[in-house]
This record gives sequence, C-alpha cells and structure tokens, in this order.
Amino acid sequence: MSGAGELDEPLQVGVVGAGAFGRNHLRVYKELQAAGQAVELAAVVDADAAIAAEAGATFAVPWFTSLAECLAAVRLDAASVCVPTVHHADAAVALLAADVDVLVEKPIAASLAEADRILAVAREYGRIVQVGHLERFNPAVSAARKHLNRPMFFESHRLSIFTARSLDVDVVLDLMIHDLDIVLSLVNSPVHEVRAVGLPVLSSKVDIANIRLEFENGCIANFTASRVSTERVRKLRFFQPHQYLSLDFARQDLLMIDVSGAAGMTDEQLAAMASMTGADQHPSEGLSMRKIKIEAGEPLRLELEAFLGAVRDRSTPVVSGEDGRRALALALEIHAAMASHALRAGL
Ligand SMILES: NC(=O)c1ccc[n+]([C@@H]2O[C@H](COP(=O)([O-])OP(=O)(O)OC[C@H]3O[C@@H](n4cnc5c(N)ncnc54)[C@H](O)[C@@H]3O)[C@@H](O)[C@H]2O)c1
Repeated sequence: MSGAGELDEPLQVGVVGAGAFGRNHLRVYKELQAAGQAVELAAVVDADAAIAAEAGATFAVPWFTSLAECLAAVRLDAASVCVPTVHHADAAVALLAADVDVLVEKPIAASLAEADRILAVAREYGRIVQVGHLERFNPAVSAARKHLNRPMFFESHRLSIFTARSLDVDVVLDLMIHDLDIVLSLVNSPVHEVRAVGLPVLSSKVDIANIRLEFENGCIANFTASRVSTERVRKLRFFQPHQYLSLDFARQDLLMIDVSGAAGMTDEQLAAMASMTGADQHPSEGLSMRKIKIEAGEPLRLELEAFLGAVRDRSTPVVSGEDGRRALALALEIHAAMASHALRAGL
C-alpha cells in the first residue's frame, strides 16, 4: 500500500484537522507538490464540516468530516495529525492500522498510555511515526548543534500572547515541550532532578511555568514558558566551557561568543556585546563574538520534507515516536513537580 521506494509515484498524503496549524501542513504539502516533489495532497479531514469544506475548496482537495469515511474513500500513504492533542491517539491509531505512516503534531499524545498505544500500533503494522517537534528543523538549531561540545547551562524563554487555542493542554504541553525536546536532544544524559512552579492565569490550566532541570552529568537547564505574555520571545541560550551561544528561533539567529579565538573585536562589536550581556563596561579583550551564518528555511517545510523522506526510505525519522514519548514523559514529570510545589506553597 505504501508508495515507499517508488520515487516517481507521488506519495498520497492527507491532513487530519484543518484548524490553525493543520492549514499550515495543507499549505506546505501543496507547496511541495507545486515544486514538483513526489507528493500529492489527497484528502483533508475535519470534524467541523464548514472548516473541512473551506479547506477542501482552498487547497483543491477532497474533504471529509470523519477519518473513517476518508480512509474508506481515499488511498493514503502518509498523513499529518493536527487535531487537538487529546484526540491525537485515536486519529494516529486509526491511520496506522490502515497502513498509513503518520506525522503526529506535538505533543505526541495527552498521556503516556496513549503514546504507548500509538507506538505499539506503529510497531504492529510496521509504520513510521514522526512527532511534530518542528524546532528540531529550525536552521538555527541545526547550526548550533555543530558547535556543541559540552553544554552545562541552558536558559530557555518561550513567551507568547494569549489566544484561545490549545487550551486542552497547559503551557508545558503547548509551548515548553518544544524546548524540552530540543534540550533533551542536546544533553546526552538522563534527568536527575526537576524543580517546577506553574500558575494558571487566564485559563483553567497552567499558563506560565518556570522549570529547573538538573541532568546526571551536572548540566542545568532553566525553562520559562508563558502563553499570557505581552510579547513574543523564543530564545535559547547555552553555555559550555569558554563559550556562550545565543539562539533566536524566530529570527533564526545564532550568536557565539568564545574566548579561545582571541580575535580582536571592533569597538562596535565590543559595544554590541556589552549591551547584549548587560555589562556596564566593555568585556575584556580575548573574547570573540561571531554571528554564525545560517541559511534560513521554514522549519515546517523542512520537517515535512524529512517526514516524506523517512516514508520513502523506511528510515527512522529525525524526531521519532520514542523522542516524542520522551519529551512527553518529562513534561508529565514536570506536571507532578508543579503539583507538589503548589501543595507546598498552599496554592
Ligand atoms: N508544531 C507546532 O509548532 C504547533 C503549533 C500549533 C499547534 N500545534 C499542534 O497542532 C494541533 C492542532 O492545533 P491547532 O492550533 O491547529 O488547533 P485548532 O483548534 O485550531 O484546530 C484543530 C482542528 O481539529 C478539528 N478536530 C477536532 N477533533 C477532530 C477529530 N476527532 N477529527 C477531525 N478533526 C477534528 C477541529 O474542528 C479543528 O478545526 C495540536 O496538537 C497542537 O499542539 C503544533
């Protein structure tokens, strides 16, 4: 049933859930198709008939209001699952059991039992599961990975303005999970300790959270995530011996400061660095600051291209189902730490 290996035959892909983010998947698949890649958008499914019909018309693709109807009518090789997180497992399992490879949006599922159900069905049917941790495909992250030697301290900020979306989950599963996945992929050591505080602000779930992780190798990672901010920030800074890297996900920027090069900086560079580090005085000589050259690219496009590549090659995806489960397990550990903090604080 899968078009795997048949390079000339376009993979037939579907999108389940045509809400805010599903529409991005629809757009990118259509763009890849228009660019001549071996992929064809074959179906869109949304439980809301008006949304399904509108997406069907916009992207010129057959639309359905139920996955069962779609699977009975259309042959799919692969599909993106972009329904709310609480419905990920049901949609993913139905697709996998119909021999369809799946890219399931992040977080993989709402519970570990659901994640395990997805992974078990994928194994049973020999299907591919990729999880939509799209920051892994951010060109700034790929560039940072090349400069990684021994990261010992991470500082992550992901702040967004409140919208009424993704309220089926809290800010840890909604936003912070991106950074948890990235840091887990950069630190090659198990988590030793989790300290956490989280507060509901506008919704009934935690909207702002601050977490401190200590890994067994001594690395520390601080994460702040908010969906009730007045500004948008998506930054990760990390420190390793004699080196500091500052990554901006949105701008796809990577700045590296190190002492090994001892390259002379211009006064302008020193002044820029002083303002960036908040130092009152110019930093001492011997420090060098470099803006790493990055070839910009849309992370979602890179993610979907990688997914289609894994589907064709039958290879393990860059962000596997197991990676998605690992990020979810950590997020749930953070939930437990937040609950115990709330109890201690009498909240
Ligand atoms: N990777 C990212 O950066 C990123 C960003 C935003 C959202 N997401 C993820 O994408 C998913 C969807 O988020 P969103 O913001 O698009 O939500 P949304 O509420 O805008 O859209 C969800 C759509 O799914 C439809 N739907 C609900 N249940 C369904 C079902 N059982 N079958 C078919 N359709 C169903 C709804 O009618 C709606 O149109 C979530 O898992 C979210 O975490 C990922």
